Parts: sequence; structure tokens; C-alpha cells
Amino acid sequence: MTQITLALTKGRILKETLPLLKKAGIEPVEDIFASRKLVFPTTIKGTRLLILRGSDVPTYVQFGAADIGIAGKDVLLEDQGDGYYEPLDLGIARCQLMTAVPKGVSSHNGRLRVATKYINVARRFYAEQGRQADLIKLYGAMELAPILDLAHEIVDIVDTGNTLKANGLETRDHIADISARLIVNKAAFKTKFNAIQSIVNSLSKSVSI
Ligand code: PRP
Repeated sequence: MTQITLALTKGRILKETLPLLKKAGIEPVEDIFASRKLVFPTTIKGTRLLILRGSDVPTYVQFGAADIGIAGKDVLLEDQGDGYYEPLDLGIARCQLMTAVPKGVSSHNGRLRVATKYINVARRFYAEQGRQADLIKLYGAMELAPILDLAHEIVDIVDTGNTLKANGLETRDHIADISARLIVNKAAFKTKFNAIQSIVNSLSKSVSI
């Protein structure tokens, strides 16, 4: 029997991922949200789920510790790994990757300071714009950085816009449309082709329902 390990992103994406997996016939055998476990067997024998931090999903898949992963496009743009394919847009956890600035403030002239956890994405974006920017790596609460003068602007994901609004910021430039994507380890896609293709097909059908 082929063993398949699926790496899922915890948090917001997970809540939308589980119904999609269920439609595709893959269900954890116990309630993920009621447990501190990180590995869950499923109703399909030999198929198990890992619950990971989003930015670790591409790492697990790239090195083959997981065969399949579900991660936000924001994480994949930042990761730039090449050990996996990205065969399917799951259409869930949609949001935008944007720059944001204090409300009503005009563009900063001169050298820009940008706070973000998306250092690679930001480096490419400002380079494409021909703007010089010093990037400051943060791990969360990016919205604080412009308020405390740590940075002139931030690069972050925006969903409802409530977090920006609550902190006196507004969006400026659109960088990318984001949604959750399926990724597959390149080697596993060959060695476990039938099992993986069957999961990709079932998921692709549940996406279009
Ligand atoms: C994200 C992001 C913003 C917020 C945007 O953080 O960093 O803070 O969501 O959502 P909104 O536009 O609907 O207000 P998240 O809650 O995912 O936590 P994180 O900082 O751990 O990524």
C-alpha cells in the first residue's frame, strides 16, 4: 500500500482545507481542532495529515518528508523552492498581497524602509519598481511598524482590510492575488504517481463543485 503524507497549513487555511478534503473523500479520524497532535491518520488507509506552520509546508514537501502540501501562494512566492510542482489552485483562503501605508500619507521620497515577513517578495517587488528599499524582517504584527516609525510602509496579506483600518493604515500597491495551492514533491510525483494523481484529481473535482 502506498503511504501518502499530506502537509496542511494550520490556522485560517486549515478551516477551509478540511471541507475540501472531505469532499475529496479524505477525513481525519479524529477532530484536529480538539487535539494537540501534529499527525493524523485519515479514513484512507496509508494517508496521513501533518499540521504545520504555513512557511514550513514547502520545506517538508521539498525534502520529501511530505508528498503533498497545501500552502498559501504568499508562502510559496516567498519560499522560491524548486523541489515541488504546484499543480492546483484550491481557490480557498483568498486574499491579496499588498503594500500598506499610514492613511492619508503621500509617498515617501527618498530611501524607503519596509517592514515585512515577505523579504524575498518585497525585494523583487521594489526592484521591479526601480525603488530602493531597506527591508526589515518581522514575524507578525507588521501593522505596528509604520505607527512606531520603524518603517514607512509594510508588505502583508490583506483579507477584509479590518486589521489595516484598525491600525490607521491603508493599502497602496497590489503585489499579487493569493489563494491556497496544492504542491507535490517532484520525486514522489514519479514514484507514487497513481496515488498522488488520484488525490490531485479528487481535489480538483471538489474545487470546481
Ligand atoms: C494576517 C495578516 C494581517 C491580517 C489581515 O494575519 O498578517 O494581520 O491577517 O486580515 P484582514 O485584512 O482580514 O484584517 P493572520 O491573522 O493570518 O496572522 P499571522 O500574523 O500569524 O499571519
